[in-house]
Amino acid sequence: MTETTTAPAEALARPFPWPRGLFDPPERYAWLRAERPVTRVVTAEGQPVWLVTRYDDVRAILTDSRISADTRNPGFPRIGARPPTDAERPFLRMDRPEHGVFRRLLAKHFTVKRIQTLEPRIQALVDETIDRMQAGERPVDLVQALAVPVPSTVLSWILGVRAQDWQFFNTASQRLLNGHDVDDPRAPALAREAGAALRGYLAELAAERDAAAEPGDDVLGALITAERDGEITRQDTVNTTLVLAVAGHDTTAAMTATGLLTLLCHPEQLAELLRDPALLPNAVEELLRYLTISQLVVLRVATEDIEIGGVVIPAGEGIVPLTVAANRDSAQFPDADTFDLHRQTTGHMAFGHGIHQCIGQPLARVELRIILGTLLRRLPGLRLAVDPAEVPFRLYSQVNSVTRLPVTW
Ligand code: HEM
Repeated sequence: MTETTTAPAEALARPFPWPRGLFDPPERYAWLRAERPVTRVVTAEGQPVWLVTRYDDVRAILTDSRISADTRNPGFPRIGARPPTDAERPFLRMDRPEHGVFRRLLAKHFTVKRIQTLEPRIQALVDETIDRMQAGERPVDLVQALAVPVPSTVLSWILGVRAQDWQFFNTASQRLLNGHDVDDPRAPALAREAGAALRGYLAELAAERDAAAEPGDDVLGALITAERDGEITRQDTVNTTLVLAVAGHDTTAAMTATGLLTLLCHPEQLAELLRDPALLPNAVEELLRYLTISQLVVLRVATEDIEIGGVVIPAGEGIVPLTVAANRDSAQFPDADTFDLHRQTTGHMAFGHGIHQCIGQPLARVELRIILGTLLRRLPGLRLAVDPAEVPFRLYSQVNSVTRLPVTW
């Protein structure tokens, strides 16, 4: 019998977060959605937090003006990595109106139109990367060979970060995100060190740019101009580039590798996709919904008593709106645990919902379509080089992902 039908109530007593499967969120989420859609649990750090699991409730919470994303609230969920100090707080962890200052500054750099202008360059980068894969030995670890370097290089163009530093960026941001891996006692210290190293690097980069008369028209240039206009501080520039760097490459890398594995594990749908590449955009949306890799990123705190699903969440208590559970809610997405590339995916919350909805989603979509589309076109015989059960993945990370993906063709 599965945990869903055996002792779910007792299982709830175990510290949150709970282990998950490679593709599927913890089974307890399904039981919660059916039986206790808004429920209080205790984290591994001993903090009580409220889990919200139904689609409609998660959506309502994420647009409720009585919730806050500000980590300065003492009740903000402390899941995993140490929350940012006041000085380190990025706009991801701010409320209106200060959050709006940053969205406004960054908006034009992430529009669908602006990202479209990058498409030929991204396509060329993906082609070169696959050329290198083809020239080397097989099997290839797709995570290191393609999934991590492509989004990281693209991000360095957008941010104005030196491309030769991507290796440093990858290692440091992954350590930062893995801070709450309960299986690795070194994880919190490594995450702290990595965060400090990234900050130092970005501060150096900002100072270099500020030394120039014209700061440039990329993201870093826009932030330096806003500093000069007195809108934001140097600390804000560092915090903003850091959150873009971390949020922007690990997520896309995780979606590429885990998305490809999902396709390889659904050979009939993969064959259909190879026959009809026009299905790719919807396949990407379905992969986003099905995997909802940002499993522990969306965190909030109640600033007033909030009644939701017949339960009152008291002011000051932490909330984990589980978009990963909401996207598996069959009341919204029929037969939601099944991967179906023909599915109607509108309204999925893989990129969140409300004012913090992912600013990088146009970029993520373009990257995923180009990477997956090119891989399938150029390497139609692509297959796993190991048993799917042997593919390692991150159990507790904020962003779920396979960590290695040995493939051949
Ligand atoms: C498949 C890839 C991606 C996924 C699944 C993803 C997911 C998410 C989610 C769920 C949020 C909402 C967090 C919240 O509500 O608390 C978010 C916000 C954010 N994402 Fe993404 N993201 C992806 C790619 C990117 C990229 C490529 C960038 C930048 C280049 C980016 C930058 C950001 C930023 C800066 C925020 C904070 C927005 C705000 O607070 O207003 N993300 N992302």
